[in-house]
Amino acid sequence: MGKFLLNRVRVLLWVVRGVRFLNTTGFMAEKDKMMTVQILKGQIVHAPDSNRLDILENGFLVSVDGKIEGVFDILPQQYQSVDVSDYGDCLIMPSFADTHMHAPQYAMLGMGMDLPLLDWLDTYTFKTEAAFKDKDYARCVYRRLAREMIDNGTTRVCAFSSLHRKSTMVLMEEFEKAGMTGYVGKVNMDRNSGDVLTETTQESIRETEQWLEESSGRFKHIKPILTPRFTPTCSNELMAFLGRLAQERHLPVQSHLSENIAEIAWVKELHPDCSQYWESYKKYGLFNDRTVMAHCVHCDERERNAIKENGVWVAHCPDSNINLVSGTAPVRKMMKEGLRVTLGSDIAGGALLAMNQVVTAAIRASKAKCIETNRSDDFLTVTEAFYLGTTAGAKFFGGGDGFAKGNELHAIVVDDASFPPSAKKLSVKERFERALYLMHKDDIVAVFSNGRQVKSLKKPF
Ligand code: GUN
Ligand code: FE
Repeated sequence: MGKFLLNRVRVLLWVVRGVRFLNTTGFMAEKDKMMTVQILKGQIVHAPDSNRLDILENGFLVSVDGKIEGVFDILPQQYQSVDVSDYGDCLIMPSFADTHMHAPQYAMLGMGMDLPLLDWLDTYTFKTEAAFKDKDYARCVYRRLAREMIDNGTTRVCAFSSLHRKSTMVLMEEFEKAGMTGYVGKVNMDRNSGDVLTETTQESIRETEQWLEESSGRFKHIKPILTPRFTPTCSNELMAFLGRLAQERHLPVQSHLSENIAEIAWVKELHPDCSQYWESYKKYGLFNDRTVMAHCVHCDERERNAIKENGVWVAHCPDSNINLVSGTAPVRKMMKEGLRVTLGSDIAGGALLAMNQVVTAAIRASKAKCIETNRSDDFLTVTEAFYLGTTAGAKFFGGGDGFAKGNELHAIVVDDASFPPSAKKLSVKERFERALYLMHKDDIVAVFSNGRQVKSLKKPF
């Protein structure tokens, strides 16, 4: 009886807490239907296009049932009775999309930065991932990772797990619970990775099928993505199986392409029938408009053209490309040529989990490319790089242009009050640019993912 009462009190507390948590939400009835309305007020900044930064000072960002209705300078009449979450002078911008990262490598973030790709994989990475056979350890790492990503303003992710099915399920659970949206892939790798981290072809096939069955319909916001690690670690039989599966079930695919010179030469040896790396994916049906390929550092014109023609997405990972001595991708050229470029942290080849830092790393990398090619004025602008980390990435997940009507609400609120004092009053544009370089997770006071508020450090005024 006592226990029953205690439970009743707990439920009541939950309700009360729930109402407080939904402080930022109002309810409206329309044609007998209840709608959840969220109105955020502040200094709104978004990039609907790569060369367009829209700023609305003291604007209202309105969403209904998690979908954006619009950005308004005057609150439309029908919302006048709804509570407004007024964030005052804070910046409100789209949250970030990380289209390429390795979740288990979070455990080695900032370590092993002294080797190029293939030696780095053999020396550090495969050993780190092997520990994810233990699903309790996986839970501990993944719970922390999910929280850290949300705290840093990333709400959409395309992640590699390890080859372990159970731990992959754990990653999906932890991402879902934290409020993340996106894709997770059980890694497939049945050759060339030594003894610590490998599976037979039959194991890989069986575990992938079982993982798809277990995860089917289980999560609302996290979906499976097929993940052949890269051509060198996948046998032809495994690639053929994954290609068939992708086609039959209309599944997305993630992998690596032309990251490093030694890797490219190795692929050539393994697939002498392919004149270029991309063809080793294409011949198995793994190179289409549901595919995201990380890096593309060394793609020449023909390979870039194949990416474009096949509608493949590129995940540009600037910090990783420097750390693993891979090179600097011709990111601006790819954008100009019409390739669909997005941004990835590629942790732990990349050591930057916070995507605002990956955005600024992309600017630095493109400047390095300019210096290298003697074209000193052809580097990414802040707007272009911000677009890559927000709108361009969101599009891979089915999102649209910035805060356009119809998009799911993915947003962050940044309080820059603790940044260095400036002698003059800064414009919102200047403050936005500075925030991209300087913001730390403690400055991100609220995060919204798919309409849900998943972080709240500071109450609206
Ligand atoms: N290529 C194959 N596996 C990996 C990985 O884990 N990281 C990077 N950067 N490249 C890869
Ligand atoms: Fe990677």
